[in-house]
Amino acid sequence: MDSGGKQVTFQLMLTVGAAVIGSLQFGYNTGVINAPQKVIERFLNETWFDRYQEHISKTSLTTLWSVSVAIFSVGGIFGSFSVGLFVNRFGRRNSMLMANVLAFVSAALMGFSKMGGSWEMLIIGRFVVGLYSGLSTGFVPMYVGEVAPTALRGALGTLHQLGIVTGILMAQVFGMEALMGNTYLWPFLLGFTFIPALAQCALLPFCPESPRFLLINRNEENKAKTVLKKLRGTTDVSADMQEMKEEARQMMREKKVTILELFRSPLYRQPIFIAIMLQLSQQLSGINAVFYYSTRIFEKAGVAQPVYATIGAGVVNTAFTVVSLFVVERAGRRSLHLLGLIGMAGAAVLMTIALALLDKLPWMSYGPRPSAFAVAGFSNWTANFIVGMAFQYVEELCGPYVFVIFTILLLSFFIFTYFKVPETKGRTFDEISAGFRQSSGTGGEKHSPEELNSLGADSQL
Ligand SMILES: *[C@@H]1O[C@H](CO)[C@@H](O)[C@H](O)[C@H]1NC(C)=O
Repeated sequence: MDSGGKQVTFQLMLTVGAAVIGSLQFGYNTGVINAPQKVIERFLNETWFDRYQEHISKTSLTTLWSVSVAIFSVGGIFGSFSVGLFVNRFGRRNSMLMANVLAFVSAALMGFSKMGGSWEMLIIGRFVVGLYSGLSTGFVPMYVGEVAPTALRGALGTLHQLGIVTGILMAQVFGMEALMGNTYLWPFLLGFTFIPALAQCALLPFCPESPRFLLINRNEENKAKTVLKKLRGTTDVSADMQEMKEEARQMMREKKVTILELFRSPLYRQPIFIAIMLQLSQQLSGINAVFYYSTRIFEKAGVAQPVYATIGAGVVNTAFTVVSLFVVERAGRRSLHLLGLIGMAGAAVLMTIALALLDKLPWMSYGPRPSAFAVAGFSNWTANFIVGMAFQYVEELCGPYVFVIFTILLLSFFIFTYFKVPETKGRTFDEISAGFRQSSGTGGEKHSPEELNSLGADSQL
């Protein structure tokens, strides 16, 4: 008899494993343009020369490279906004399967850009893989959260984070000159994204559709039951079914909140402001300046083997992510976020915590969540774009002092978090939202108690 639903079945492992390949892809493509910057810049220079019979100017090169890096986040913005279009129509699993078309297209574009003598292909490829990544960062946590048993939901949810940092590290290692970070093989380094895509396409057909989607969106109770039995490895799935039905009832009662209402209502204004600030603090901490440009940064700083320093950063990032996964529940999210902000060594912690906090948006009931996710995702990807695009220019202006800007931003975010962000550790969702209700004055009374009571539903959308 399995009453706790804590069993990790083979089917569950396979399903979660297949899904987090999407997280790995996001990480890989975040880190992949870091190490080979120089060799790809040489390609841009040569291609320019072939076309215009003159060497590329330093400004044009900086622009072309910054665009190639940052257009990824523009894809991310569009992708993260499109998540809702897919998941409720095609289901979670099929959406992930379909998104791989983007991974294949981008791998082909980037992989053949050298052969085609076209930086346009490289840039469009980066945009397309950004689209894929924006979609994945929506699909994966949702799907994993919906197939996981309640007791394992938090633990399995962290695999998304782990997938991302592993992907970054993988890209950094593959980017070594001896492997693929050289003049001949860099197209393979970028085109490598083809292989995880292939693996995901091979595995997903053996994974079930999300039972929550089957029951709530499709009203197919028997199918949902069958899937749950397989995932849980038990015949009694009545507790899971009960939980989902209860959630469906809650959803019926609540009205949807538009993005505009999110900013108008005094009840939501403060939480959404905090959500945005946390997203911004994650991106404006400078962490992506490191993931995108560290090889160049280390090289300028006189490091003899900049790629090894970059890999070192990736290892620290992965190690701290693992540590933070273990201590997050004990230490509390706010405290860890503060720690991360005050020491850039905590950058990985910061990333995890900011995301973990936003993944849950615990202070919000179901109704405003889709809008809140859209706003939070948009802030995150936009700040990501700004850092990716502007970093090299600002660095040329400020030289080594570029990180002073991040330091000032980090200190501001530290002060903000200290005074404005509530700790979630050891508090129920009800208590957290009640705290917001008090500080928002009279706004709370206008809302039904159900709206605030439904915070327990740990759904993504
Ligand atoms: C482009 O390549 C030429 C020839 O290799 C080199 O002299 C020039 O410095 C390069 N331009 C830039 C901006 O790197």
